[in-house]
Amino acid sequence: VRLLLAKRAELRNNYAIEWRLTGVGSRRIGWIADPTGLDPEALLAGQFPSIPAWKTPHNLHQWLATADPQVFFEASSLDWRCGQPAIDHLKAALECGAHAVSANKGPIVHAYLELCALAKARGRRFLFESTVMDGTPIFSMFPHSLPAVDLRGFRGVLNATTNVVLTEMEKGLTLEQAVKRAQDIGVAETDPSDDLDGWDATVKVAALVIVLMGVDIKLDQIERTGIRGITPEQVRAARESGMRYKLICRAERTPSGIRASVKPEQLPLTDPFALLEGTTSAVRFDLDVFGLSIIEHKAAVIATAYGLLGDFIRAVQ
Ligand SMILES: NC(=O)c1ccc[n+]([C@@H]2O[C@H](COP(=O)([O-])OP(=O)(O)OC[C@H]3O[C@@H](n4cnc5c(N)ncnc54)[C@H](OP(=O)(O)O)[C@@H]3O)[C@@H](O)[C@H]2O)c1
Repeated sequence: VRLLLAKRAELRNNYAIEWRLTGVGSRRIGWIADPTGLDPEALLAGQFPSIPAWKTPHNLHQWLATADPQVFFEASSLDWRCGQPAIDHLKAALECGAHAVSANKGPIVHAYLELCALAKARGRRFLFESTVMDGTPIFSMFPHSLPAVDLRGFRGVLNATTNVVLTEMEKGLTLEQAVKRAQDIGVAETDPSDDLDGWDATVKVAALVIVLMGVDIKLDQIERTGIRGITPEQVRAARESGMRYKLICRAERTPSGIRASVKPEQLPLTDPFALLEGTTSAVRFDLDVFGLSIIEHKAAVIATAYGLLGDFIRAVQ
C-alpha cells in the first residue's frame, strides 16, 4: 500500500491507472470492505474504519462481494504443506472476476494449473512475480523477453535467512546467535524452521520448475538438506581454506525427468555465488542458447511489494 501511494502519480501519468483500495483482510483485523474506497493512509497508521456490524463482512465471500475488487493481492503466510488458505482466497477472487496477484508461493506448488485454468476461463490474470526473488522479473521475463528458449536447468541461492545465518556463523556466531541476528534485522521469522530446514528454498525450486520448466514436480521429489547440521567450526574451516558454505538450489532436465535439490555446498571463492552476502540472492539459468545470471542485491520488503506492483500493472494493462 505504501508503494501504491508512492507511485500514484507515476501510475496515473504514465500508465493511465487510477486505483482505490476497497478491502483489506487478515486474521487480526478481520474483513474490512468499502466499495467507495478505504483511506490507505489511515490504514497504514493502524486506524480502521468503524463499520456497522450489519455491514461488516463475516467471511471471504461476503468480503469479496462487498469490496468488488478488480485486482486481489494475496500475501498471507506460507503453508508449504497445502498452500492454504491462499489457494481458496485466489480461487474466490478469480471467480468473482478479479485478477489474482500472489506473493505466496504455496498456491503455485499445490494449484498452479488449476489457478491458471480458472484465470483463463474468467479472462483474468494469475500473477506471482514476487514469490521468487521478490521484484526481480523472473516469471514475467520468460514468456516475453526470452521467447522460444529451452530452459535446461538452473542453480541459485534463493533463501535470505540461511545466507545471513551462514555469513554470521563465519564471523564466529553459533547457529542460535546467527538466527537471532537474522531475526533482529527482520529477515528471519520468529520460527525460522522453514528456512533452516530448506523448505522455503525447496518451494521456490518447485515454483521455478513448475512454471518455467513445465513439470508438475512435487516437494518430496526434491532432495532437501537444510543447514542445521553445519557447525560454526565447519563454516569457519571452509572459510579459512578459501571456501564458503551456501544453501544451493538446483534443478536440471534429465532424460528421466527433473533432478532437483536444495543442500548446503562448499563453493570456491572464484564462484560468483560464494560472494553473495546477507539478503542478496541469485539464480543462473542454463538456456539452450546461453547462460543467464540474475542477482538481486540486498532485497528488503519493498522489493516484494514491487513484485506485487509490477503484477498489478501487468494485470490491469
Ligand atoms: N517477507 C518477504 O519479504 C516475502 C518475500 C517474498 C514472498 N513472501 C511471501 O509473502 C507472504 C507474506 O509474507 P510475510 O512475511 O508478510 O508473512 P507473515 O509475516 O506470516 O504475514 C502474513 C499475513 O497474512 C495474514 N494471514 C495469515 N493467515 C491468514 C488467514 N488464514 N486469513 C487471513 N490472513 C491471514 C496475517 O494476518 P495476521 O497478522 O492478522 O494473523 C499477516 O498479516 C508469504 O506467503 C511469504 O512467503 C514474503
